[in-house]
This record gives sequence, C-alpha cells and structure tokens, in this order.
Amino acid sequence: MTAYLITNVSVVGAAPTDLLIRDGVVAAVGAGLSAPDAAVVDGTGLVALPGLVDLHTHLREPGREDAETVESGSRAAALGGYTAVCAMANTSPVADTAGVVEQVWRLGREAGLVDVQPIGAVTAGLAGERLAELGAMADSAARVRIFSDDGHCVADPVLMRRALEYVKAFDGIIAQHAEEPRLTEGAQMHEGEVSTRLGLTGWPAVAEEAIIARDVLLAEHVGSRLHVCHVSTAGSVEVLRQAKARGVRVTAEVTPHHLLLTDVKAETYDPVYKVNPPLRTATDVAALRAALAEGVIDIVATDHAPHAVEDKECEWAYARPGMLGLETALSIALDVLGPQWDLIAERMSRAPARIAGLDSHGLDPVTGVPANLTLIDPAARRTIEPAELASRSRNTPYARMTLPGRIVATFLRGEPTVLDGKAVK
Ligand code: DOR
Repeated sequence: MTAYLITNVSVVGAAPTDLLIRDGVVAAVGAGLSAPDAAVVDGTGLVALPGLVDLHTHLREPGREDAETVESGSRAAALGGYTAVCAMANTSPVADTAGVVEQVWRLGREAGLVDVQPIGAVTAGLAGERLAELGAMADSAARVRIFSDDGHCVADPVLMRRALEYVKAFDGIIAQHAEEPRLTEGAQMHEGEVSTRLGLTGWPAVAEEAIIARDVLLAEHVGSRLHVCHVSTAGSVEVLRQAKARGVRVTAEVTPHHLLLTDVKAETYDPVYKVNPPLRTATDVAALRAALAEGVIDIVATDHAPHAVEDKECEWAYARPGMLGLETALSIALDVLGPQWDLIAERMSRAPARIAGLDSHGLDPVTGVPANLTLIDPAARRTIEPAELASRSRNTPYARMTLPGRIVATFLRGEPTVLDGKAVK
C-alpha cells in the first residue's frame, strides 16, 4: 500500500502542516515530516477536511441503472469529496428486504470508491400500508440503522408511530420525507406568488410543516430518533427549533439547492428545477441558511437524484422531480457559507457521520484515525459542464455556472479515490 505525504496543507482551516498517510490511517501530523518511501502530494493552498458524508443519496441501482449505478454514483461522490454515502431505498425493487440492502451494500464494496451505507424502506414497497422487514434489514450484513420511504411520506400516523417504536430497540432512525399527501395532490411547484402567476398547482409550505410538527410529537412520545429529510421552509425551521429546545431526539438536513435556488427558477419552465420538496422563496432560503449556521438544521445532505434524459427533458408536468448534487455540494456550501471550514466539516462530515453511526468517518485528520479525507482548493473556480460529470445523468441545475472550490484529492482508508481532481479508477 502506497504511503502519501501531503505537505503544507491547512487542516480544517488551521495553519499549514504536513500529513502522513500510511496503512490506511493518518500516521503523523506536523510540520516538516519526512517519509522517503511516500508519494508526495503538494498541499500548498489546499484545505484538508474529513471526508464528506452524505446522508441522502439516490444511487438508482437496482432498477434504473440507465440513470445511475452504485459505481457511477460512488465515483461522483468521491469526485465531490465524499468518503461515505447513505443510499436511499426507492430503487426497483425497493430496498425493503435484507436481500436488497445487502445487494446495494455489496455493490458499494465492489466499487470501492466510497462506503455505501444502505437505508432501508419503512414500509413494504414504499406503499405506506405495512412495515417493511426492519429487523431483518438491521440484522443483515448491511447493518441498516436508518429507514426512510423518501420520495414518499409515511403519512399514516399509526405506521409512523409503529416504525419509531420498532427502531427504538436498536437506536435506529426514521428519516421522514415530510409531505402531507392530501395537501400536495397534483402539486408542481411551491405554492405562492410565482405559482399563481404561472398557473401551476402549488405545494404549500404547510404540507411539510404539518408532518414535521406531527412527527416531532410522535418521536417525543415514543422517545425515538427522527431525522427530517430536505427541510425547505422557514416554518419548518421554527417547528424544529421548538422541538430541539424541548429535547426531542430530532435531526434535520437541508440540501444545497434549497440553500441557493428559489421558486423564481420555475419561470423558465425548465424541468431541471423541478424537485421535491420544491424550490421555495428567498425568505425560506434565508431562514434555512441561518438555521444551518445556528445548528437548528444539523447537516447538508445532497438528495442527489439522477434522472434519465427522457424523465427530465420533457414538459414540466411530466418531468420527475430531483437534481444532481454530489459533485457540486461542496462548492455550493462554500458559496453559501464562505470559508468557514469548521462549520463545513461539522455540517457535511462530522455530524452526518455521527447521525448515521459511521464511526470511521467524520473524524478530523489526527494521528491514528482512519485516513478518510478530502483536499480542496478553495481558490479555484470551475464552470460546471454537465457532460463532464461522473454521474450517468445530466440533470444539474448548475450547468454552466462558475462555482468556487475544487476537490483535488479524496482518500478512502488511505487509498486515493481522486488525485489531481480526477477519479483514480
Ligand atoms: O426531488 C426528489 N427526487 N425528491 C425526492 O424526495 C425523491 C427524489 C428522487 O428519488 O428522484
């Protein structure tokens, strides 16, 4: 196994130092290290962060390998600075049995580019009618701890309660896609001034807020862990703030696109901007940014949602919701938060690793820890060209935008998955 000496690098924004990576771990940290057998990576001007961890990735395999595979999504993740991703369950077949979650987990190991931690479905077939085999998935080789019907809301309060009760035994988490379905029938975009003007059916903020309010009460009642996916409204932030103040065991994520883009994008009728929950207003964006800085929202998660061309490049009403995220998330975070490296490390690596229980991830590079890390050039700017992305899909909302920051290298257990900004395999 090759050793790597990263010289003159800023670790999470601190004064430059050297990092020696050997045998899968950070072997030494300090200025003036020497290791004649090591390959040298010049870290001048670069920032080292613990490898990013995405709690919300759609890898599409099994079932829609034309849109993404575990391997192509893993490569996109590594190029985005990630060392671990949690794969959502809305595949075909749905990841609602030990067999399917083990398949995804095994494909992740074979690709070997990031650690792929499967999320299991809460309900069989995501149908919202009866619980999936939560215990069997937890006991499987994939050791599932997070369950989600993402893409669909667990709308039935009795099922939600039972799911929370079930996972309490092993300190599992129910990750909710908060959308009251009766309030969003036929919805095409955020309900507000823009939807009224465009004549498109609206998805009101209250459809999200009502479910979050219900679920924090259920989680409090049961004493279980709830995670709220892709929080998108200012009102949701207030519900979460109150719940956290009461000590409810709730965590929450926000996506890069909800931190940057607004519903005004729908005026283009370009379905690349169609996403669920929808892009909201500038007031919501400001509240989400403040909540992320404050910690009411714990993490940034991509909701990387690759879609094949025929599912996206069609009329707005028929297009599938979702956008790519893995290869641009760090740049958007840098754009939105500025070079607050400790905050970025916390929201994109340490906290998601803690929530998901991925013990070898989310650790700052100090001597002895597994060498899962990423090197960023914050001074670089790059223009996003969809054709150059590693994802099999092209549905990025940032096409031809120039964004700050570039991932120079990513290491998974001491092995480079990305070097010189390029995937190693
Ligand atoms: O926009 C979305 N796309 N939101 C979801 O909840 C699901 C996702 C998908 O699977 O495409």
